[in-house]
Amino acid sequence: MKVDVVLGLQWGDEGKGKIVDVLAKNYPVIARFQGGPNAGHSLQFEDKKFVLHTIPSGVFRKNTQNIIGNGVVIDPIIFMEECLKLEEIDVPVKERIFISKKAHLILPSHRVIDAASEEAKGASKIGSTLKGIGPTYMDKTGRNGIRVGDILTPDFADRYNTLKNKHISTLKQFDFSYDLQEREAQWFEAVEYLKEFQLIDGEYVINHLLQESKRVLAEGAQGSLLDIDFGSYPFVTSSNTTCAGACTGLGVAPKQIGSVYGIFKAYCTRVGSGPFPTELNNSTGEMLRELGSEFGATTGRPRRTGWLDLVALKYAVMINGVDQLIMMKADVLDTFETLSVAIHYKVDGKITDCVPYDTFAQIEPVYKEFKGWKRDLTKISKEEDLPFEFMNYVRFIEKEVGVPIMIISLGPDRDQTIIRTS
Ligand code: GDP
Ligand code: IMO
Ligand code: MG
Repeated sequence: MKVDVVLGLQWGDEGKGKIVDVLAKNYPVIARFQGGPNAGHSLQFEDKKFVLHTIPSGVFRKNTQNIIGNGVVIDPIIFMEECLKLEEIDVPVKERIFISKKAHLILPSHRVIDAASEEAKGASKIGSTLKGIGPTYMDKTGRNGIRVGDILTPDFADRYNTLKNKHISTLKQFDFSYDLQEREAQWFEAVEYLKEFQLIDGEYVINHLLQESKRVLAEGAQGSLLDIDFGSYPFVTSSNTTCAGACTGLGVAPKQIGSVYGIFKAYCTRVGSGPFPTELNNSTGEMLRELGSEFGATTGRPRRTGWLDLVALKYAVMINGVDQLIMMKADVLDTFETLSVAIHYKVDGKITDCVPYDTFAQIEPVYKEFKGWKRDLTKISKEEDLPFEFMNYVRFIEKEVGVPIMIISLGPDRDQTIIRTS
C-alpha cells in the first residue's frame, strides 16, 4: 500500500478538514505531517461543528488510527484543550491518537518570541498566527529543540530550562514585556496529559501499517503557497506544506506516495500578509467574505478574498504532482452574475504563466469572465443535477490545469459532497 496525500493548493483554509473527514471513511489511518496549531481544520456533521488544530481530522471515525507525525510541532496546552473537548463528547482520543516521539514541542517561550519578533517587524510583519510555529521550527533546524520523546527522560525539566533560558536571553534584544509563569504551569500539566497517549516511533508504525496493506491518508496543513520553499517568501509558514513534506514529516519514502489530492476553493482567500494577485479590495471581495464566512478558524481574523488564480493553482499542482483535484465552496458563488478567473499574469508589461520569483513584483492578473449559475447548489447531491454554467466553470478549470476534479464540495457538511464518477 501507498500513502495518499490531501493538501491545500492555495493559502490554506481550502477545506482540508472537511474532506479528510469525508475520505476517512475509507482510510483506517490518517496522519498529519507538518504544521501545528496554526492550522484550524473545520468539520461538520449531524449539525455539529468542530475545529481541530493539532489532531488529525479522522478522529471522529470509529476504528481510525490518527497519527501526529514527526514533522508536526505540538503545543501540549492546545493539544490537551482539543482532546478534553472531544473526551466530553465521548471520542476515545487516547485510543485513536498516536504521537511520534520525534515531533517537536512548542514551549511557552516560543510563543513569546513569535509575538516579539512579529511586533519588531512592524509594517512588514508576516501576520503569523502567533502560536510559536516559526521559533519552534527554528530550534528544530538549529538543533536545540525538545521533542515529544524527551518528556519521558529523567532530565526533561533541565532540558526545558536550558532552552527557556536561551529564549529569555534572545528576548533581551526586543523591547517586549511578557510573563511566562502562568502558561508554564499549564504547560507542565499538559505534558503530564501527553504522557497518557501512545507515543510511537511513527516511521516504523506507518511503514508497518503499509506492509499490512492498510490505507494511509496524509493530511496537509496550511497550503502550498505558504510553503517555506515555494510560497511567497518571507510571507509563508515555517514548514514544507507541499507533498514532499509528507515524506519527511512521516518517514515514508517518495516511492511510497500514492494519489495526491489537491484541494482548492472555487475562489481564493488568504489570511495574513503577502502577495495576493487576484485580491478584491471592493464590495465583491466583501461579498465573498460574508457569503463564504471567511473568518479564520484559528484566529478569527477576516480572510482576504479574491478570484480564482489559475497561474498559482497550476504552480501548486506542478510542485505537488497532484493527480486529482477537489473543488470547495463553489456554493459561495451561487448568487454572482459573473465570475472571473485569472488565466495569466502581466508582470512588467509582459504576459507570463509563471509565478514570479520576486515576492514584491507588481502582478496584474489577466481575467477570463464566466456567466454565473444563479442557483442554490447546496442541496444538489447528484452530478447530473449541476447547472450547465457551473459545469462550464468546472470543465474550464480541468482543461486549463490538466487534472480532473474528482470531488465537488457544496457546503460545509460531510453530506454536501459530490464524488464524481464521470
Ligand atoms: P482547512 O483549514 O483547509 O481545513 O479549512 P478551514 O476549516 O479553515 O476553512 C474552511 C471553511 O469553509 C470552514 O468553515 C468549513 O466549514 C467551510 N467549508 C468547507 N467546505 C465548504 C463548502 O463546500 N461550502 C461552504 N459554503 N463552506 C465550506
Ligand atoms: P490551515 O491548516 C491559513 C498563515 C498565517 C501567516 C503565515 C505564517 O487551517 O489551512 P505561522 O503562524 O505559520 O507563523 O503564520 O501563514 N497560516 C495560515 N493561513 N490557514 C492555515 O492553516 C494557516 N497557518 C498559517 O496567517 O500568514
Ligand atoms: Mg484552516
